[in-house]
Amino acid sequence: MTATGLLAAIADVGADRVRGGYSRHGFDRVELELREWFVAEAAKRGLSVETDRNGNIWAWWGNPGPDAVITGSHLDSVPGGGAFDGPLGVVSSLAAVDVLRAKGFTPRKPLAVVVFVEEEGGRFGVPCLGSRLITGAIDPDQARSLRDPDGISLADAITAAGADPSTLGPDEEALARIGCFVELHVEQGRGLTVPVGVASSILAHGRWRFTFTGEGNHAGATRMSDRRDPMVPAASLVLAARKAAVGDARATVGRIVPVPGGTNVIASEVNVWLDARAGDDATTKSVVAEIQAMARQAAAEEGCGIRVTQESYGDTVVFDPVLRDDLSTVLGGVPALPTGAGHDAGILASRVPTAMLFVRNPTGVSHAPQEYAEPDDCEAGVAALAATLEHLAS
Ligand code: GLV
Ligand code: MN
Ligand code: MN
Ligand code: MN
Repeated sequence: MTATGLLAAIADVGADRVRGGYSRHGFDRVELELREWFVAEAAKRGLSVETDRNGNIWAWWGNPGPDAVITGSHLDSVPGGGAFDGPLGVVSSLAAVDVLRAKGFTPRKPLAVVVFVEEEGGRFGVPCLGSRLITGAIDPDQARSLRDPDGISLADAITAAGADPSTLGPDEEALARIGCFVELHVEQGRGLTVPVGVASSILAHGRWRFTFTGEGNHAGATRMSDRRDPMVPAASLVLAARKAAVGDARATVGRIVPVPGGTNVIASEVNVWLDARAGDDATTKSVVAEIQAMARQAAAEEGCGIRVTQESYGDTVVFDPVLRDDLSTVLGGVPALPTGAGHDAGILASRVPTAMLFVRNPTGVSHAPQEYAEPDDCEAGVAALAATLEHLAS
């Protein structure tokens, strides 16, 4: 089966009729349907499926064991996201297994396709949740108490999905089996001008929640001079982010939630989420510090309170240079490029040799419905992944 054929099979699952694109989030009905679809596809290929203590699914070709070659990605999306970010890596892994089978290859090392849970953090706020839990990059108690926008905790969502949230936590056994991990992903900027490339690094990045508190009141009856409107420092924060992110730094406010959120109501509280990224740890933190200082000043000027919580953070990732160069050579000298996007591969890279393959994105758009990869490029990605797995598992 081709990657595009497999993507077509899930084209209706989680299509977002309101925002456009796809909304597929960890442990929601849609993601559970996708997980079932993946398990059925794995079964069709005779792969043996296991779900780990954190909800990640592993489909093994051969017996699970040490020095395994692992590939895969995620099936969840951002709200209103594209069809490729995540699923392309999963379907390409299945298609690569088909290619290797068809040519009569039998892996000498254990080989598995993994689906990580809630990579985007679109529901519970922390990205790469499945890989963070495995590696111990997030405390399981903290994870269990994360809440979605409806106030449902991760623990309750896992329970509602028929699984056991008490098992969440570091999984040294799962990690010990991984000889190397290769994640194929659609490229997310305009960095790749040939069908396939390999990743060199990921920007340092994190998420911060700013809570501004003021006085809820009537939009018509309250004189402008009497207001303590938390939306005003929230607006300043958006502008501060634009001003502070210079050079290779990026700062984004993609989500603002006023409480209670009425057109004729001055909010009593506004929550603003900042996503900030840059080439190194010091630059990222200084950009955030600058934005924070501006936000504090704006809050004080409006007589509002401010609380800042770091919700996730990861330092710059440099992918294993030996594996990267090896794969580039195996693939005929494809280019290596850095990315500003986060990935489960970036989390695993702190523990196991990790690499990424990128497939060209002619739109330069991602995390939006326009995200795209040409069918021929997707198949080039499958061929590259198959060659990679053959090389690594021989
Ligand atoms: C995930 O795709 C991210 O980089 O935010
Ligand atoms: Mn993404
Ligand atoms: Mn992704
Ligand atoms: Mn990602």
